[in-house]
Amino acid sequence: MCGIVGYIGNKDAYPILINGLKRLEYRGYDSAGIALINGETRTYKCKGKVSDLENFVANQDKSGNIGMGHTRWATHGEPNDVNAHPHISLHGHFTVIHNGIIENYDVLKRDLIKNGYSFKSETDTEVLANLIEYIYLKDEKIGVETAVRLALGKVIGAYGILVAAKQENNFLIAARKGSPLVIGVGEGEYYFASDATPIVEHTKSVIYLDDDHMAIVEKNNLMLKTIHNDLLEPEVKQIDINIEAIEKGGYDHFMLKEIFEQPSAIRDTFRGRVSERHNRIYLGGLHTALPKINVAKRIIIIGCGTSWHAGLVGEYLLEEYARIPVEVEYASEFRYRNPIINEDDVVIAISQSGETADTLAAIKLAKEKGATVVGVCNVVGSSIPRETHAGVYTHAGPEIGVASTKAFTAQVTVLTMMALMLGRERGNIKADLYLQMIKALSAVPEKIEVILKQADLIKELSAQFTNAHNFIYLGRGVLFPVALEGALKLKEISYIHAEGYPAAEMKHGPIALIDEKMPVVVIATKDKSYEKVVSNIQEVKARKGIVIAIVTQGDHVIRNLADYVIEVPDSHEAVAPLLTVIPLQLLSYYIAVARGCNVDQPRNLAKSVTVE
Ligand code: F6R
Repeated sequence: MCGIVGYIGNKDAYPILINGLKRLEYRGYDSAGIALINGETRTYKCKGKVSDLENFVANQDKSGNIGMGHTRWATHGEPNDVNAHPHISLHGHFTVIHNGIIENYDVLKRDLIKNGYSFKSETDTEVLANLIEYIYLKDEKIGVETAVRLALGKVIGAYGILVAAKQENNFLIAARKGSPLVIGVGEGEYYFASDATPIVEHTKSVIYLDDDHMAIVEKNNLMLKTIHNDLLEPEVKQIDINIEAIEKGGYDHFMLKEIFEQPSAIRDTFRGRVSERHNRIYLGGLHTALPKINVAKRIIIIGCGTSWHAGLVGEYLLEEYARIPVEVEYASEFRYRNPIINEDDVVIAISQSGETADTLAAIKLAKEKGATVVGVCNVVGSSIPRETHAGVYTHAGPEIGVASTKAFTAQVTVLTMMALMLGRERGNIKADLYLQMIKALSAVPEKIEVILKQADLIKELSAQFTNAHNFIYLGRGVLFPVALEGALKLKEISYIHAEGYPAAEMKHGPIALIDEKMPVVVIATKDKSYEKVVSNIQEVKARKGIVIAIVTQGDHVIRNLADYVIEVPDSHEAVAPLLTVIPLQLLSYYIAVARGCNVDQPRNLAKSVTVE
């Protein structure tokens, strides 16, 4: 969603803000703006990308050691210059940038209009700026900080905000409820951002703001309070992200880099957790929750998008190996449907960003009802790991491309480890199978390297489908979620309509779509459903569909049937999702590039969905 950056210190704020905005552009990107404070406040904002903003301010006064910047992903009001942030209050006293949604903005706006306020934009953020000003002007004695606090007390919804005041222009106020904010701590300077990516090149020391906290920050001082005015002791943490991890490193796109990073990302996910030598998988982050998990009557997995697909893979594996009943739900549905949750349920919440609003709300609901909640997250220090009782970080490193790739395989890796570890703890997996599975899992990174060597072949193949209008993806069992994930990847970055189906379901409807123009991607590696999937391929061919099959190395049967084949190394069926998804990621990537799409920043999408 929207990205926030800010700076206060002795350096020129502009280069810090503009570089920070470029690093945050992956979060949302329909307009951008900055405010620079140098005695007076100058605001520049425009529709488009950060590069458009850069051109727009090229010949303007960019001085100032205090400032804030914003990239917007529109919620209230279309993307245009006026709706772009920062927003300035009617009488010019307050400048605000905001990430999140103020749900009661309409009521607040009507009240402000009754009190003489008018509005230039359609945004909820301008309402907040005016509300702060209205409260401040009613009684200037209360001061800026109190005015901000009282205004936030009237707001329903989510926010991560930075506020600057004209009348006291030597500090910035940062506050958070539901939308992340991180403060970087330097020498006589502070950095602000909605995630750590713009901060790491300046400092590794950070303070994560919690919900209902606000920080009043001068260049040499930071005061942390609750929005109820209780003073808090800030906790400075060290972040472990290096600058290379957030740059493209010679690849054309972050997505391609992240696809190619998967062998090392999975090795990082294993690190210290999987040992072939000791024949053991151990997820330390689950330690405190293990007694509950081991007696759980049911596991409910929640997530959105790709994370939900990882959850579906988890369902197959946890039921197969841990023998615990599993349900998988979209977090956005779960949170609103009054689900039956018991104290002996364990909820596993999966999220790359750790900030997805629906997943966070679903976690809160599950906790209220007494369930034990375990997180599987990538972004260290994000909101979900802080809300859950226990959890496992995926350690895939920063994922910048909007379409999730390495985060998915890292999530599936964690769920596979979890299934095997619990299966063994609960006595459902015998020692020899356990060792066999550990070996199969440990071999995955190398096997992915073999698949990645076929990138040029997949690129060549993808050229045949640049102008396709539709795709069908089929898979069975644990590979059905991979079919869903393949279809989602294609939709999001190439804008080609695609549907994923369990292969056997095809004849119950989707088969009507198949003709000589329909590409059908079939995940058909050798497992217990293999023969049946071969029959499904025959059904597609009988209707002249174009079959692209993902097969086990050396499969001549399907090679003779399908139009195109992509081979993956032979593996245990439980780890097949980790291998078969790789060609699907590459296929979508190359098709999207050939269609001239903006792969890293697909239209309408945002990396971190912090609004419902
Ligand atoms: C797809 C994609 C999204 C996310 C979804 C959940 O490529 O990236 O579908 O998977 O928005 O996000 P997280 O995992 O951050 O909760």
